[in-house]
Amino acid sequence: MTRHFLTLNDLSPDELGYLIQRAIELKTMLRNGQYHEPLKGKTLGMIFEKSSTRTRVSFEVAMTQFGGASIFLSPRDTQLGRGEPIEDSARVLSRMVDAVMIRTFEHATVETFAAHSAVPVINALTDEFHPCQLLADMQTYVEHRGSIQGKKVVWVGDGNNMCASYINAANQFDFELVISCPPGFEPDATLLGRHPERVSLQPDVNDAVRDAHLVVTDVWASMGQENEQESRLNAFAGYQVTPELMDRADPEALFMHCLPAHRGEEVTDGVIDGPQSVVWDEAENRLHAQKGILVWCLA
Ligand code: CP
Ligand code: NVA
Repeated sequence: MTRHFLTLNDLSPDELGYLIQRAIELKTMLRNGQYHEPLKGKTLGMIFEKSSTRTRVSFEVAMTQFGGASIFLSPRDTQLGRGEPIEDSARVLSRMVDAVMIRTFEHATVETFAAHSAVPVINALTDEFHPCQLLADMQTYVEHRGSIQGKKVVWVGDGNNMCASYINAANQFDFELVISCPPGFEPDATLLGRHPERVSLQPDVNDAVRDAHLVVTDVWASMGQENEQESRLNAFAGYQVTPELMDRADPEALFMHCLPAHRGEEVTDGVIDGPQSVVWDEAENRLHAQKGILVWCLA
């Protein structure tokens, strides 16, 4: 069966745990200068319908270091941008490449692509989920603090694609997730309702972060919501992660942000550049964690 990675639910908790450990090993091997080319001769097609720095570079570098190759495909210069059906694009690309990574708007697009693809499809962010980022976040937590099982994670800000992936992660990695959003910006109610034992809403951000082991935030306006940027600034005022807010968390709490950050909006310089922030390790771990997912899909 073709192994797609569209959400964190495509792997079992055991597989996810193994993948995180493998990512940590692959990181050590790379640091030691050890060549490891399990994907020699393999090609990853990378479809980007939205911008990217980390995702594009980490997938390309991962394929290079693994002895394979990658092809960057944008709708601007492929037939995808001229209306070739997604089903047909999937059939054609999967006759040539060994796996496809997609960053797009509607989650249904990656599902449709996967349904018609003979090779694994990896979700590199949709409006609904960003599972690759969660692998890097979980790896980063484990490296700094050990197992995340039973810990308290607080999501501050928009109930967006990252927040939705944290909901899946709470279930898969077995932690408590408290979500603090301004009214009207909560995550999808169906998804939220799926894990009432692990996930809860607390709109009062000062209450929410109390004793948190991990505080996470993201931009207030995601890609595709640029025209809401101004109105969101007002709606989210009060949901900024400040040093004072971090002081309410556990003294050992970490701060994460998938990046890019809008400093002075969702987070202050004092936090993102402060001692609790692990955002650069988190960004680097996109490379190592995605190697784990590439091997899971392909090897
Ligand atoms: N965090 C993340 O996915 O970054 P990019 O948008 O730069 O890929
Ligand atoms: N929520 C953000 C994440 C960017 C990596 C967005 O979708 O733009």
